[in-house]
Amino acid sequence: MRRIGILTSGGDAPGMNACIRAAVRTALTHDLAVVGIRRGYTGLINGDTVPLDRAAIRNTIHLGGTILETSRNPDFYTKEGRLRAAASIDRMGLDGIVLIGGEGTFHGASLLAADADTAALVGVPGSIDNDVYGTDYCIGFDTAANCAVEAIDRIRDTARSHERLFFIEVMGRTSGFLALESGIAGGAEELVIPEEEVSIARISERIQEGFTIGKKSAIVVVAEGETPGISFKIAREVSERLNFESRVVVLGHLQRGGPPTLRDRVLGSLLGVAAVEALIEGRSGCMVGEVGGNLTYTPLEETWQKKKPLDENLRRIFPFLSE
Ligand code: F6P
Repeated sequence: MRRIGILTSGGDAPGMNACIRAAVRTALTHDLAVVGIRRGYTGLINGDTVPLDRAAIRNTIHLGGTILETSRNPDFYTKEGRLRAAASIDRMGLDGIVLIGGEGTFHGASLLAADADTAALVGVPGSIDNDVYGTDYCIGFDTAANCAVEAIDRIRDTARSHERLFFIEVMGRTSGFLALESGIAGGAEELVIPEEEVSIARISERIQEGFTIGKKSAIVVVAEGETPGISFKIAREVSERLNFESRVVVLGHLQRGGPPTLRDRVLGSLLGVAAVEALIEGRSGCMVGEVGGNLTYTPLEETWQKKKPLDENLRRIFPFLSE
């Protein structure tokens, strides 16, 4: 291993820069040459690189987003696109690549490895959705969840003051990690997550039960799922059923940026070092993660083919914590 590339792909996540910084410093410590690949798979296909020396990553640990920029490139889902990427990797002279991203990134990487005899590929999980199998937490989740909790706290002030029902929509396309954890930490009354069928009857009953025991306001946390803005429909139907006024707040991309929390900086640093050390050890086709406090290496295929389950115990305790 003499020369490696680093890229970030898919949705940006706070802590990605801490990961890039750690990967660069680890590479330089081991006398590896390192380049940044700009804009994820778009840059990989086009050979679009930036130098990543010590100066380039200095003063970046506290920055959200990704200094390498990112993209979701549909061309990478065509064989032609991936073969162009493989040719470009050859031209760049890369022996290994650290790919920081989520399920889509690792799906693409698995296809690339199957199509071409190319550089060693090691993934690092970065996604505010936290939906990547093979790690307890993804880089970015903690910051996004804390952002959601802060928003819930603020809205609670208004909900209580006006005796209102609020629907707060958080991100999470196929999984309810953000909704579940921010819902518990924010003391929400109800939860709507992609893992479960939406039941207007159940949500309404739960809110009604709260009113019966003296509550005057309620908060429902909704994961956006495949349909951002879905909470407007849910809110309208619940409001009509209960004959109670409601308001909707969609947090959207507000949750994705901003300075990473301590946890995301530490996780990003840990996994950035682990990814480069994995390449040096000769690993490829895997994602470094942390499970139960231990470093793990999960085959790239498993990271997107297997569904990461929600914490059953957290889901179990949610309903009675909000009674
Ligand atoms: O995958 C992260 C995520 O933020 C999802 O929660 C959300 O559904 C999606 O990305 C939004 O993607 P985009 O930024 O491309 O609109």
